[in-house]
Amino acid sequence: MDNQNTSHRIATSDDVEVSTYLEIAKELHGEQPAPQPEITTSTARETIAIIDFGSQYSHLIARRVRECHVYCELIAYDEPWQKIASLKPKGIILSGGPASVYQQGAPLAPPEIYESNLPILGICYGMQVITHQLGGEVAPATKHEYGQAILHISDKDCPLFAGLPSSLPVWMSHGDQIVELPHGFKSLAYTENSPAAAIGSDRNIFGLQFHPEVIHTPQGKTIIQNFLYRVCGCEGTWTPSNFISETIENLREQVKEGRVICALSGGVDSAVTATLVHRAVGNQLTCIFVNNGLLRREEPERALRTFRDKLKMNVIYVDASRRFLRRLKGVTDPELKRRRIGEEFIKVFERKAAQLGKVDFLAQGTLYPDVIESTTKETKAAARIKTHHNVGGLPAKMSLRLIEPLRYLFKDEVREVGLALGLPEDIVWRQPFPGPGLAIRIIGEVTPEKLEILRAADWIVMNEIKKANLYRQLWQSFAVLTDLKSVGVMGDYRTYGYLVAVRAVTSQDAMTADWARLPYDLLARISSRIVNEVPGVNRVVYDITSKPPSTIEWE
Ligand code: XMP
Repeated sequence: MDNQNTSHRIATSDDVEVSTYLEIAKELHGEQPAPQPEITTSTARETIAIIDFGSQYSHLIARRVRECHVYCELIAYDEPWQKIASLKPKGIILSGGPASVYQQGAPLAPPEIYESNLPILGICYGMQVITHQLGGEVAPATKHEYGQAILHISDKDCPLFAGLPSSLPVWMSHGDQIVELPHGFKSLAYTENSPAAAIGSDRNIFGLQFHPEVIHTPQGKTIIQNFLYRVCGCEGTWTPSNFISETIENLREQVKEGRVICALSGGVDSAVTATLVHRAVGNQLTCIFVNNGLLRREEPERALRTFRDKLKMNVIYVDASRRFLRRLKGVTDPELKRRRIGEEFIKVFERKAAQLGKVDFLAQGTLYPDVIESTTKETKAAARIKTHHNVGGLPAKMSLRLIEPLRYLFKDEVREVGLALGLPEDIVWRQPFPGPGLAIRIIGEVTPEKLEILRAADWIVMNEIKKANLYRQLWQSFAVLTDLKSVGVMGDYRTYGYLVAVRAVTSQDAMTADWARLPYDLLARISSRIVNEVPGVNRVVYDITSKPPSTIEWE
């Protein structure tokens, strides 16, 4: 266990560093009731409710709806109808899911949705749920359909298919099929193996056997957009500028004369969070930036320049590098490194916050995927662990209320909001950086000398990647200082120096990742610059493992 990444990190938010620390704080201070976020969804928003039956694609449905500029929320299927109704949705989407409706105890939708007169779109299992609940019949298919199929549209007037050709490729993934349609429904489209690949009734209830939300259904987004705009009558008001004005208004109402603190990490999530709060309540916000001595080159200076000088925020800068390094002396185990760094962060943060006098709120950059993890049915058990990582004991101990203005945003939406707020591009597009920083990119003990070597090598990697215009395409790119030394030759001399590894990965969410196929000449430049410019390093290797089976970080 020791050498694995055992902490359950939330990969989507690069404020995880703070989150992870909050979890440690919880352990330090004992079990305390987790504070509830203060910001709630505005019911004035045009909203779609997505009832989640646990499909691996449920997040994707939400993302596609948001990409159509319509706000949506995922709601676990076993939540009561009142929860859905409280959103005042303009329509309801039922997601796919792994179950079969004819099995005992299969998850179903709250029956009230069918009496609500709201438009409904069931996707895959969602369509079978509609069929089953409205009196039709679903049975195991004689032929399972997994993968690409051609959809032939038989009802050309159906609003879902407006603007689409009569045949289109779609992505299927199902073992059950409809054998009898519910009363009042008809088939709208078919595939070779599914006579009812799309169904509909004149009550604006539709079902799709395929998955319009995945990229393998190239015109799927048009179908979703048609449902939102043509069937539900949405207008597409979910835009960064609307979000910003709405959030600022909510924050003002909520914070009133109170004081807010926010831990800045230099990453996009905490930057956008702090900027929104600052726009709302100005100097009632104080940010704390802790330099743990494990940051990349020029990182603290850059953060201060941006937040203090440019954005005119109150930023308390704490240089705690020496304390952190002292605590890391002799530590080689990755999890112990994480733990020590986390504990130290909490101590420094709490001490600084206490010096501010009375503080009422803690602003934090939790993102929607972290929230989904903790609220959808299928992940409830695992989610609790993750939630603790996000909303740990710190606010409870300090009796702070939590503000999470990004709680309903995906990462790409955070970036859009950041741009709309006028944040510098290098903050908005910054690659995620782990809370324990360079400590988990130095294999073995962390020393000031090794940190210097790694910073220099990392600086070269980052700059060459940026020069090659690849920075944004990569999820992360960085250098790792291994604990290995090897023999080399420089001029006429034998050298015995460190081995540096370069890691660059592509990923959507850090749960899985692929090693980036960087051009050879870029790799050559990086390697030769590191060996020539960084004293103590005489060999560079490129990491060509994906995740799984590896992880992104080496520790
Ligand atoms: P792995 O190495 O598990 O990393 O593939 C997945 C994502 O999480 C980041 N990471 C961390 N973030 N504290 C953090 O705040 C940590 O201890 C930590 N370890 C890994 C990593 O950079 C990647 O984005």
